[in-house]
Amino acid sequence: MTDRHIHAEPLTDEVSASFADAPPRLREVMQSLVRHLHEFAREVRLTEDEWARGIEFLTRTGHITTATRQEFILLSDVLGLSMLTIGLNAPEDEKATEPTVFGPFFVDDAPEIELGGDIARGAKGSPCYVSGVVRSSSGEPIPGARIDVWEADADGFYDVQYDGDRRAGRGRLTAATDGTYRFWSVLPAPYPIPHDGPVGELLAAAGRSPMRPAHLHFRVAAPGYRTLVTHIFVAGDPYLNSDAVFGVRDGLVVDAIEHPPGPGPDGTHRDRPYHRMTFDIALAQEIRP
Ligand code: BEZ
Ligand code: FE
Repeated sequence: MTDRHIHAEPLTDEVSASFADAPPRLREVMQSLVRHLHEFAREVRLTEDEWARGIEFLTRTGHITTATRQEFILLSDVLGLSMLTIGLNAPEDEKATEPTVFGPFFVDDAPEIELGGDIARGAKGSPCYVSGVVRSSSGEPIPGARIDVWEADADGFYDVQYDGDRRAGRGRLTAATDGTYRFWSVLPAPYPIPHDGPVGELLAAAGRSPMRPAHLHFRVAAPGYRTLVTHIFVAGDPYLNSDAVFGVRDGLVVDAIEHPPGPGPDGTHRDRPYHRMTFDIALAQEIRP
């Protein structure tokens, strides 16, 4: 590297200029990336060893990534980039339910569950009844909204983390004509994000916990509305203020109220105690181009 490149900004300007003829959005993104990346290296006075360790870390992140293990998204999640991007692109509509991270445990072939049915399908945990209404952000019920829900079991594992292809703790439902939905599930439990790879090493080196507070994932879609990807978090969870992926929003924290055995919320007799969570969902209008 020539002397003129070491201290000042000519190198940054030269690299930035190399993108001058790129299509407009690519040029904007790459020139900003180069500027910030160079500024970062200058600010921390990046050593050659640190540069090499960074490259080695990213190489291992790539090597562990497969169709079902996306370590780069996990890295984005623990750096807060996923939540930042979600926030930047969220509907401006303040009445719409807030989105949060998608996570790696969604599958396309979840079983169809009748309203009032049980998504647990053998997943370990204490029964939990979840119900609410899907509405537009201006308050009209949305009939027939498609609702995907998925969650970890009481041991903190999703069905896809076990051997075999059992589907448990997940389902697809269709909201009723008045927008209401209801299902049985298990009380969500806190669990660690996958931390046996480079991202886990980074968290351990930094003294950060891999734990996520107990939550239940939702994806809600209806024609004319923006698809919502969100969770409900269980009020009182010890990890609410230290979610490894920064996904908690106050409006998504819901009480899980414990009920003794007896008449259940759906008219059936419950011979075990159960919890109940209520979550009304407001969808923003789709943006028309
Ligand atoms: C999840 O909640 O399923 C999740 C989200 C981000 C990273 C890992 C897991
Ligand atoms: Fe999750």
